[in-house]
Amino acid sequence: MKYFLYIYGCQMNISDAERIEAVLGSLGYNKTKLCDDADLVIFVTCSVRQSAEDRVWGIVRNLNRLRSKGKKLKVILTGCMALRKEVVRKMTGVDIFLDIKDLNKLPQLLGIKPGKEEIESYLSVKPKYENKFTAYVPIMTGCNNFCAYCIVPYVRGREMSRSPQEVIKEVKELIKKGYKEIILLGQNVNSYAPELKIQSSELRTRSKNSKLLKITDFPDLLEYIAQLSGNFWLSFLTSHPKDLSDKLIEVIAKNPRICPYINLPVQAGDDLILKKMNRKYTVKQYKLLVKKIRKSIPEVAISTDIIVGFPGESKKQFLNSVKLFKDMKYDMAYLNQYSPREGTASAKMKDTVSHAEKERRDKELDKVLNKTALAINKKLVGKVLDVLVERKGKSDLWLAKTKTFKVVKFTSDKNLLGKFVKIKITKAKSFGLEGDSVDSLNSI
Ligand code: SAH
Ligand code: SF4
Ligand code: F3S
Repeated sequence: MKYFLYIYGCQMNISDAERIEAVLGSLGYNKTKLCDDADLVIFVTCSVRQSAEDRVWGIVRNLNRLRSKGKKLKVILTGCMALRKEVVRKMTGVDIFLDIKDLNKLPQLLGIKPGKEEIESYLSVKPKYENKFTAYVPIMTGCNNFCAYCIVPYVRGREMSRSPQEVIKEVKELIKKGYKEIILLGQNVNSYAPELKIQSSELRTRSKNSKLLKITDFPDLLEYIAQLSGNFWLSFLTSHPKDLSDKLIEVIAKNPRICPYINLPVQAGDDLILKKMNRKYTVKQYKLLVKKIRKSIPEVAISTDIIVGFPGESKKQFLNSVKLFKDMKYDMAYLNQYSPREGTASAKMKDTVSHAEKERRDKELDKVLNKTALAINKKLVGKVLDVLVERKGKSDLWLAKTKTFKVVKFTSDKNLLGKFVKIKITKAKSFGLEGDSVDSLNSI
């Protein structure tokens, strides 16, 4: 039996897909690179914007056409769309709508006897990691913030944190396997709140390790992992500005293993829009936070997410976003055109900004971003940076990333995949660097 996998959306979906693959593998399914060869097609979906959902609808319709011509195929839809009642009600041709939290029920749903092991929570399923040197490790799922535009709290449910013991165990195994980069994942990592209760006997034996039990929040967990021995980088996604604490800044500043990269979504540069979005901070507070971060972590790269065309966003309010972009000088930004999502608070507000105007605002921010990112990157020319080699390009070309998540191109005739290398930067673009390999030391 062969399966084909479609993955949309955020890193959490990439990580979920690795757990789905592990379960399918244990049931004897093999992955295929051609959808046409598959007996089973799985969609790991995203609902954050309508466009992401539309693509899935299109492919499911095509598969239905193939099936009406006699192709035998099972379709599973999981991820965030599977939790939208409207999708489940209207989409035909899907055999199983799977709530990812019910991953343990997948064998039964496929009519296969489950393995011996009972899976407690889906996050305790051991993933089949896609990559041999970079691994995503979810530390929490869900969201309690209810930003007015956002569907995530409705589809992912309330915040749930994994126990530090479970997270640390997964990370230790990855380090042992030689993983070079660990990325801790959560919709809002700073809301990480492990239960303090010690339940199982396993935890009781571990309780001797008093350090472990002192993990009560995200900075504790991050610092604990940063101090494990091994040769790896550590980073995390994503931080809500209202929850990023001084303690976290301190932990990043004093642990060189933690990547100086912070994704700090601002969403809007205007106080009234921020209020309507239910973001719970002002532009001034956000700026102060960025200032504090830059002061404590001078080499930091900051990226953001922003929405253009939120209901009622006037030209003047949009210009406040432009101004903020100029002020903040972001390294990177994810620009999003507002898309109303059924069931969210802002879906009830009038979508006043036209598609063309959203497009224009998107482009205007993109221009500012290109300029600030280029200016920052130009300062790196001549410097020697540690990079992790991620991909091979054509002939001797390699693609690597810096500790600040910037792409670096360089050439070498050695196989450097998954290795740390020192690169002297020779050229800078807005979203990329070029350089020459200084040596190929396999150490940080
Ligand atoms: N937890 C993260 C965001 C997760 S969603 C945070 O709090 O920042 C990823 C991004 O999608 C958001 O940062 C936002 O910019 C964008 N987004 C969410 N809902 C959207 C919508 N309805 N329309 C357009 N963009 C949206
Ligand atoms: Fe969505 Fe806001 Fe939660 Fe982020 S913090 S996932 S934008 S509701
Ligand atoms: Fe999309 Fe769900 Fe992630 S809506 S962004 S896949 S949490």
